[in-house]
Amino acid sequence: MTDIKKSIHGEWSSRFAFILAATGSAVGLGNIWKFPYITGENGGGAFVLIYLLCIAAIGLPIMAAEIMMGRRGKQSPINTMETLSEEAESDNRWRYLGWLGVIAGFLILSYYSVIAGWALSYVLKAFTGSFSGGNALEIKSLFDDMVGSPIQLTFWHSVFMAATMYVVSRGVSSGLEKAVRFLMPTLFVILILLLGYAMTTGFYQQGLSFMFTPDFSQIDSDAVLTAMGHAFFTLSLGMGAIMVYGSYLPKDISIGKTALYIAGADTLVAIMAGIAIFPIVFANGLEPGSGPGLIFQTLPIAFGNMTGGWIFGVLFFVLLVFAALSSSISLIEPAVAWLVENKDIPRIKACIWAGLATWGLGIAVAFSFNIWSGFTIFGKNMFDLLDYMTANLMLPIGGFCIAVFAGWVMKTQNSREELELPDTIYRIWKFLVCYIAPAAVFIVFLHVLGVF
Ligand code: PHE
Repeated sequence: MTDIKKSIHGEWSSRFAFILAATGSAVGLGNIWKFPYITGENGGGAFVLIYLLCIAAIGLPIMAAEIMMGRRGKQSPINTMETLSEEAESDNRWRYLGWLGVIAGFLILSYYSVIAGWALSYVLKAFTGSFSGGNALEIKSLFDDMVGSPIQLTFWHSVFMAATMYVVSRGVSSGLEKAVRFLMPTLFVILILLLGYAMTTGFYQQGLSFMFTPDFSQIDSDAVLTAMGHAFFTLSLGMGAIMVYGSYLPKDISIGKTALYIAGADTLVAIMAGIAIFPIVFANGLEPGSGPGLIFQTLPIAFGNMTGGWIFGVLFFVLLVFAALSSSISLIEPAVAWLVENKDIPRIKACIWAGLATWGLGIAVAFSFNIWSGFTIFGKNMFDLLDYMTANLMLPIGGFCIAVFAGWVMKTQNSREELELPDTIYRIWKFLVCYIAPAAVFIVFLHVLGVF
């Protein structure tokens, strides 16, 4: 069926374009902002090890499954799930999986945009020389001043949301594709430079051993859940982002290799960010577990104290914003594609509606760092709550269902035909999506619930 059918939203111009866009979706704040701080909060090495295991055993097979399902369904995740469940002669309630994804994307973007706003405001700070010669204390108060200001946070969040909606409104190839073409390689170069700086701090070894010496006494079931949830978050899995990108993928492209490439690049960027940041943390007597502000309180010290730091600082935060942008567009794309398909409205209108709703919720997140910080649900402020609900719960649940669907519901003949993997690799994939991935998610959930 898929040979003749194309997505109504357009198609990627080449395999390279898809890889760029999907890598753009995967590589974002998750790698550079979130990975280091949750690694710091969860004690380092053992957490990193569990995260890497989750990427390989759960993330990779589910990524192949999502791309494959998207390409076969050729529509927004909600309608794709409906089409695929019909094809598999199964229950059409599978479409709720699409809904779960659309909602997760909306919730994630509402706080993602606020954090991307921090990065935007740091572009300006870097540009005006605010980091110059700064010590840990000065850099920290710069950060505290920013998050303490509801007006600043709202302003930068609004700028970022407007940019996201602008890119999304331009559609698949002109908007999404062009935005990511040159950003990834440049970001990579800056990270290498930061690694170079980290080596000069005298704390490089300590940083490395923090990240790579596993100490399992630091790990409890919540840490395992965070590591697993982050594997989904960082690879953009479990909510239909990769599925919707897969739906724009032409037929003649190898899904297996593509998934491997994306997951590899994503992991490399996260590990590099970690290796660059922890030596700076230790060199300045900072706390690895100091939370979401970690990179904003460490990297500016590096930029403020190295030669040419001004220009590198500006460049780094500009690139971080672009990395966030290429992820944020994929967070809202499932909702926009669905609105266009089902409500029969032009793409631009769909963008405005989806964007306004996200922006509104984002304001509550921005306030949760200052004037509403006392407002908590289950002991968590709005930011923590949304992050926990999405990354730790909704994405793993979505991923679990995707694995079950690809492994158990879809006909073997169809998944085999769509994936076109060599026979042994197909069998390994099938084993991972049928047993390992669902069981891992299930067991971690049971453990968190205290069942054993
Ligand atoms: N993977 C993105 C990041 O690491 C975030 C994201 C999550 C994007 C889910 C799309 C879907 O920053």
